Amino acid sequence: MTKWLNLQDKVVVVTGAVGGMGTKFTEDFAAQGSKVVLMDLLEDKLNTRAKELADRYGIETLAIVANATKEDEVNAAVAKVVATFGRVDILVNTASILRFSPLEDLSVDEWQTAVDINLNGYFITSQAFGKQMIKQKSGTMVHISTVAGIFPETYSGAYSTTKAGVLMMSKQMAAEWGQFGIRSNCVLPCLVETPMSHAFYTDPEVQKGRSRLVASKRIGKLEDISNAVLYLASDRSDYTNGAELRVDGGLSIMMQDMIPKPGGRRQYAIDHHQK
Ligand SMILES: NC(=O)c1ccc[n+]([C@@H]2O[C@H](COP(=O)([O-])OP(=O)(O)OC[C@H]3O[C@@H](n4cnc5c(N)ncnc54)[C@H](O)[C@@H]3O)[C@@H](O)[C@H]2O)c1
Repeated sequence: MTKWLNLQDKVVVVTGAVGGMGTKFTEDFAAQGSKVVLMDLLEDKLNTRAKELADRYGIETLAIVANATKEDEVNAAVAKVVATFGRVDILVNTASILRFSPLEDLSVDEWQTAVDINLNGYFITSQAFGKQMIKQKSGTMVHISTVAGIFPETYSGAYSTTKAGVLMMSKQMAAEWGQFGIRSNCVLPCLVETPMSHAFYTDPEVQKGRSRLVASKRIGKLEDISNAVLYLASDRSDYTNGAELRVDGGLSIMMQDMIPKPGGRRQYAIDHHQK
């Protein structure tokens, strides 16, 4: 696996690095021998985690406290990465928020905060690291969107709208920056248990009800998403650009299957099978 992905010594920047998914992504890149740059807001967690990964995998790490929505902080982060490692090979945009509210109760401030972090933050970070990748004439970007960027996640304010924006932003970057040797792709998770979604899985009935909706009949694990991220970050996906990879166990292709039929859909087909 290590050789197949060829991620050794690649300089990888992960935003939202100490969140549920970011923690798994940075661990898996570290296990591949990458040089891992951890970006997030939470200084203590970042420093602890950067040291942990360096000690465990014998790799170089760099912890950077930067707010993804602040252009000056992100530009300073790029400068620090380049001063330390001389280049940046991979950017994984993960830093986002999910807040619940019916639309009619959502304040414009709350809407703007979600747009600012989930969409503007991804743009600011991609543009800043993208300029460096353009200079290098190489680089790979993986943006964490969600299936909720295709199908509306009700009662979650601007979340779906921002994540739909990320899908188009990624394609635009692929179309404009492909000529500079840059690839831009999205991973679209859904139904994954992380700290962000943990509350949904504390009730076993809710857990069961959710699994039932998925083609693969299980809830996603962090490694399911991380495997997709590492693949899209690696040269193994070298001809994949502007793609949207749904990692949802087939949840999003189940709409027809959700429509009830008398006796159940499978039984109905068995009973009406004309040979
Ligand atoms: N958890 C799920 O089920 C699920 C499903 C689909 C998509 N996603 C997406 O996966 C990604 C990660 O989700 P998660 O569950 O790890 O979330 P999380 O809340 O555990 O982690 C998010 C991280 O981003 C950081 N962050 C927030 N605002 C920031 C800012 N302005 N600047 C820098 N860092 C900031 C937070 O400090 C946190 O460490 C998100 O993009 C989310 O939309 C999650």
